[in-house]
Amino acid sequence: MTVKVENLTKKYISADEEVVAVDDVSFEVTEGDLFTLLGPSGCGKTTTLRCLAGLEIINGGRIEIDSDVVATPDQSVQPEHRDIGLVFQSYALWPHMTARENILYALKGRDWPKEDRENRIQESLELVGLPDVGDRYPSELSGGQQQRISFARAVSYQPSVLLMDEPLSNLDFKQRRRMRRLLLEMLDEVGITTIYVTHDQEEAFEISDETLVLTDGKEAQQAPPEELYEKPTSPFVANFLGEANLYSATPLEVNESEQTVVCEIAEGDTRLEMKCTYGDEEVLENPVVVIRPEDVKSKVRADGGTSNNGVITQETQEANQWEGEISRQLYRGSFTQNIVDVGDITIKMKTDKPILGEDETVTVSVDPEDASLVLGHR
Ligand SMILES: Nc1ncnc2c1ncn2[C@@H]1O[C@H](COP(=O)(O)OP(=O)(O)OP(=O)(O)O)[C@@H](O)[C@H]1O
Ligand SMILES: [Mg+2]
Repeated sequence: MTVKVENLTKKYISADEEVVAVDDVSFEVTEGDLFTLLGPSGCGKTTTLRCLAGLEIINGGRIEIDSDVVATPDQSVQPEHRDIGLVFQSYALWPHMTARENILYALKGRDWPKEDRENRIQESLELVGLPDVGDRYPSELSGGQQQRISFARAVSYQPSVLLMDEPLSNLDFKQRRRMRRLLLEMLDEVGITTIYVTHDQEEAFEISDETLVLTDGKEAQQAPPEELYEKPTSPFVANFLGEANLYSATPLEVNESEQTVVCEIAEGDTRLEMKCTYGDEEVLENPVVVIRPEDVKSKVRADGGTSNNGVITQETQEANQWEGEISRQLYRGSFTQNIVDVGDITIKMKTDKPILGEDETVTVSVDPEDASLVLGHR
């Protein structure tokens, strides 16, 4: 493990109030992996990164980098002695220094051999595809170029870990996509262990080997992206990563051998019985049903002529099938989000194209396999 964080806690005192920005968080990053910290604004991502970088004194736990303990509440190794590179959202280049001087400054700070500095600067500029801008000042570079220089600077002294805090969020949508790909290529070339902070789930999905989702300073779930999407363990993660239908449910009839349970879902005057699948029995204490909108199937004509994503099988018709009314259709370009009202219960259903007009009747169904239960609050 290149990075090991154990029970990290960081508190701030602000206007006489204590804010627990990071609350007992643990994770390990495997060498060479791209590990993302993902979560909504204020969940503690930047604080975690600042603790790793040595910019904060921690209040609890410990941090190891390359098997060296670099932080406990009583001891803190200075940032420049931590063998890390840092890239910030704001680029943080010295405005009065050229690109070359910015990189030189970092190399000097890390005692890079004098005779090899010029050579290393050129290599770093070439790595980010900007071999000819060394003599320009940051104000003479575009945002994307400044970020590439900032990256070149962070990896110039070959640290063993790279920390990046929302490095692409100041770029526009198209640039961000391009830079994301370029960044992956550059990281691949350098082969460096990276911890990357983002609040953008699409970005996390595209780049991560492993993701830790944080909420309110605490760990919500850690897993590779696919597992986070397919097997969220809480309503928060299900909802934060993509869209989800979430319903509090009351278990009626458990089938242990099948690991299915028929639940009742109630809203206003409407009650539905829904057959769901569960993994861990403890979720039955307080189950919440998670259904992805793309897993809701529709059957819109009596002759079965149109079906959004697959044919409704006999089996699913028997279990989870209801008649509803399309109350709204939200056109999203490459797909349409249909809001279906089954009495007082709302079901979001994703289709490739608008399937029917608003206010029309539709039959929707959900395969029990696609209605999975997670634990709501205890
Ligand atoms: N210097 C500080 N003094 C007091 N409170 C702070 C300080 N820095 C951060 N906080 C608080 O700690 C919590 C975590 O902040 P942090 O900056 O780590 O969030 P974040 O996940 O990076 O959010 P964002 O996505 O908005 O950048 C927030 O409640 C924030 O207000
Ligand atoms: Mg932040």
